[in-house]
Amino acid sequence: MMFKVTTPPRIFGAISLLVIAAVVVGTGLIEAPFFRQSIIDREAAIVRDMVNALAAQHGISAEDMEHHAEPKAARKLDETFGLLRKLPGTERIKIFNRDNVIIWSDDYSRLVGTRRTTHLERLTRAMHGEVQAVFNTVGKDLRLDEQGPPMPQSIESYVPILTHEADSPATVIGVLALYRDPQDLNRTIRQGMYLLWMFTGGTGLILFFALYKVFDLVYSRQQTAESKFSKLTVEHERIVQIEKMSAMGELVGEIAHQLNNPLVGVINLTQLAERQVSDPQRVSELLAEVRKAGTECRAIVQRILRINQASRSTIQQTDIGELVQDTIAFCQHSVALKHSVDYPKPGRKHVLDVDPVLIRQALFNLIHNAVLAAPDKQVRVSLAEAQRDSAQGVLLSVTDAGPGFSRETAGKLFKPFFTTRANGTGLGLSVAQHIAMKHGGVVLAENLVAGGARFSIWLPKMMKP
Ligand SMILES: Nc1ncnc2c1ncn2[C@@H]1O[C@H](COP(=O)(O)OP(=O)(O)OP(=O)(O)O)[C@@H](O)[C@H]1O
Ligand SMILES: [Mg+2]
Repeated sequence: MMFKVTTPPRIFGAISLLVIAAVVVGTGLIEAPFFRQSIIDREAAIVRDMVNALAAQHGISAEDMEHHAEPKAARKLDETFGLLRKLPGTERIKIFNRDNVIIWSDDYSRLVGTRRTTHLERLTRAMHGEVQAVFNTVGKDLRLDEQGPPMPQSIESYVPILTHEADSPATVIGVLALYRDPQDLNRTIRQGMYLLWMFTGGTGLILFFALYKVFDLVYSRQQTAESKFSKLTVEHERIVQIEKMSAMGELVGEIAHQLNNPLVGVINLTQLAERQVSDPQRVSELLAEVRKAGTECRAIVQRILRINQASRSTIQQTDIGELVQDTIAFCQHSVALKHSVDYPKPGRKHVLDVDPVLIRQALFNLIHNAVLAAPDKQVRVSLAEAQRDSAQGVLLSVTDAGPGFSRETAGKLFKPFFTTRANGTGLGLSVAQHIAMKHGGVVLAENLVAGGARFSIWLPKMMKP
């Protein structure tokens, strides 16, 4: 079966595996040269100890190096350093004197007397007592000697040969260069690398499976949470819809109730009139009653139409201070006011994006209520800047000196058709609240300690889109 990389955990898995593979290969490539250098350095140090042990055993001295051509010295050098041929992988042995001239080699005939070396700098360092090890890689086209075949790879060790005369510090009398076939070394490095790769790969895989498991778990939990959330959202929408429907049902019931009373009156009155057609005076009185009931019905219908009007708004930049003044002037004409409305001019202009017709209507309803609450006392209107839930806005307050509202009334103030007034329809405050909310604001009601009530419209400076 094909492994399809589709879900986020699988994408994560595929990427992680690629990263782990890159880390394993990268670690191998970076570690290999360090690994190899440390091995050849260690081998070079062993060669140095071995060479100097042999030199000490055979009593190799500076004179032997100087008179290397003499048979006795040549034999001594042969016997001493010829033993190194037995070291596995040895390709060539050269002994340099302090002038960097080859004085002895296992290939005596060709090299003695020449200065042949590929790494003069290493040779010089070895002459100063340091042990040097070089790994010659493929492509350098090294040759053991002029006629010899090219060597694809080799290890060169340069080790100082020291004198061991009593009472004097050890001095370098020459350098031994040993060329070895790197096959053994390569095998060791390969094994080391395999071990390293297995370790990093294994650790990486363990880490990968652990992370994959965690990621998969987190992802599936998130998926579950998301699906639960979307189910909740659907459920919430359903509840809101039910709420709306029941609110509408309530509203329709209220409207029916409101219209029913005058309509029942109309029916009763007309029945009465039918029975008393012979008495024109009485009929005329009854018809006047019928007209009154009809007018009442029309008033209710007009109020309801006003709510509908509030749903259609045209927002424009409006100077709220001016709007308040216009509304007060309108109240003065339409409502019989005993006192003028007190409206201290605000300190600064407040220009807001609102529907002026609607805000005027809302404010009118509040002023009208205030006037009806205390017809003999002055109504005060004020406009000021006010913050609400850390949003900037303005507060339009209408304060009266009336009796205020009871605790029981407080909970129903904004309910459509709630009224305590004989001629009221109970729509003034609910319309005002509806208008304020349409602007992202709210109508607030409070009883004042000193007596009276204050109804305020708070409007935000920036309407939420
Ligand atoms: N300033 C006020 N002081 C005391 N009570 C108030 C005040 N304003 C409103 N109320 C109470 O809130 C009720 C509802 O007011 P609302 O304006 O919605 O309807 P209404 O004034 O009764 O009728 P209308 O539809 O004619 O406005 C009022 O009947 C009254 O009991
Ligand atoms: Mg009212």
